[in-house]
Amino acid sequence: MAKSVPSKDKTRFVCQECGGSFPRWNGRCGACGGWNTLVEEKIVPEAKGAAARFVVEQEGRPRGLAEIDLSQAPRIATGLAEFDRLLGGGIVPGSVTLIGGDPGIGKSTLLLQVAHRLATQGHKPLYISGEESLAQIRMRAQRLGLSSDTALRVGGENRLEAVLELLQQNPPALTVIDSVQTLFTSALESAPGSVAQVRECAQELTRHAKQAGITLFLVGHVTKEGTLAGPRVLEHIVDTVLYFEGDTGSSFRLIRAFKNRYGAVNELGVFAMTDKGLKGVNNPSALFLNRDEREAPGSCVVVALEGTRPLLVEIQALLDATHSPSPRRLTVGLDGNRLAMLLAVLHRHGGIACYDQDVFVNAVGGVKITEPAVDLAVAMAVVSSLKNKSIPYHLAVFGEIGLAGEIRPVQRGQERLKEAAKLGFTEALCPKANLPRGKIAGMRVSGVGSLAEALEYFRNL
Ligand SMILES: Nc1ncnc2c1ncn2[C@@H]1O[C@H](COP(=O)(O)OP(=O)(O)O)[C@@H](O)[C@H]1O
Ligand SMILES: [Mg+2]
Ligand SMILES: [Zn+2]
Repeated sequence: MAKSVPSKDKTRFVCQECGGSFPRWNGRCGACGGWNTLVEEKIVPEAKGAAARFVVEQEGRPRGLAEIDLSQAPRIATGLAEFDRLLGGGIVPGSVTLIGGDPGIGKSTLLLQVAHRLATQGHKPLYISGEESLAQIRMRAQRLGLSSDTALRVGGENRLEAVLELLQQNPPALTVIDSVQTLFTSALESAPGSVAQVRECAQELTRHAKQAGITLFLVGHVTKEGTLAGPRVLEHIVDTVLYFEGDTGSSFRLIRAFKNRYGAVNELGVFAMTDKGLKGVNNPSALFLNRDEREAPGSCVVVALEGTRPLLVEIQALLDATHSPSPRRLTVGLDGNRLAMLLAVLHRHGGIACYDQDVFVNAVGGVKITEPAVDLAVAMAVVSSLKNKSIPYHLAVFGEIGLAGEIRPVQRGQERLKEAAKLGFTEALCPKANLPRGKIAGMRVSGVGSLAEALEYFRNL
């Protein structure tokens, strides 16, 4: 389709739905009829004839497994232990990482800290900000107590071509671009912050970083309004995607590895926002438990697995007689559809009816739990609230619930049990298939194979 475009045009508009290509922007795709699907793209000239045959780069040349060089540069430990763990054991040299999150959540703070730490280790990081003035950055560094006599260089630039020039002149080992939404290239007519600009800039930077072996961190804002292109369009371009979770109201910050070519996906880093910047939290489970209060109906502790680390999180349910023909089902930090499914299973296989109840379920501390291992704890919390009978605090629960009312095993049960025991839980309820072979010191473990058995266990509490 590109062939129909007049050769003087350097860009085209491509439908993100059907791939249709047009020389001019239009609100509606002429091919599939989709609205607002056209995004500007740079036209890469097609090579003709013999030149069109690809030159296989030395780097990617096929070879036997034994010929492949394993002597990679080791990971760089920043010394921010929680951040290193989140990445899978430090920064991989030459990798490209996207850090997304709401404005004000701490992206700039974190990356200034990281860049500064690398500078004190003898690397030469470059921090480029299109968002703040250089004076503001220096003031932040002062507030964070970062010394100014390091190799850290700070630049204020938002033209892509100028940034690329900077990277070529004096290649830094690590570069931070804060943010990718303020960057723009003159090759496109689209406005800075648009999908087209954000994607083109990120692609160019990534290409250059990979060629030059530069470690790249891209900051991206997540906006609900959609006026700025969200970082989601960049996820497939980069190696690693980190997202800040939770809200800016709390002093804790959760960072999740949403994608990681070099480490465990879903890994969670827990930080506290202090006036000296982000500090890793050593014992994050304490954050998600509400343990200083007395036992209350509707509360049940789950052993969730976030990335490679088990995490104890209190699940709270509140059921209240509804005054509406369609009762409310609301979840915070949990999957709403999953709750609807669990309520149906509770009804069909447990005889527990909630159709006259509003149901609210919350994961304490603003953490998001996506794994089905939380099912059993959610069901227990719901029943506990409905029956107004509390679950003892020393009990930790995990297990997936199937549509047939069966309790399905989850991965790494043994580790979950050990973590719960370590944190002082003396009792655990888990899927039968997850029962440990040996004893877990200080803990009584009960296994259940069906929802009926779990409800029986609850009645005997
Ligand atoms: N002068 C200050 N004193 C203490 N904390 C501050 C100060 N200024 C900003 N902060 C903290 O830093 C956060 C802003 O972080 P920042 O890294 O700029 O966010 P982002 O880059 O994600 O928009 C604020 O939410 C606040 O918690
Ligand atoms: Mg910022
Ligand atoms: Zn289309």
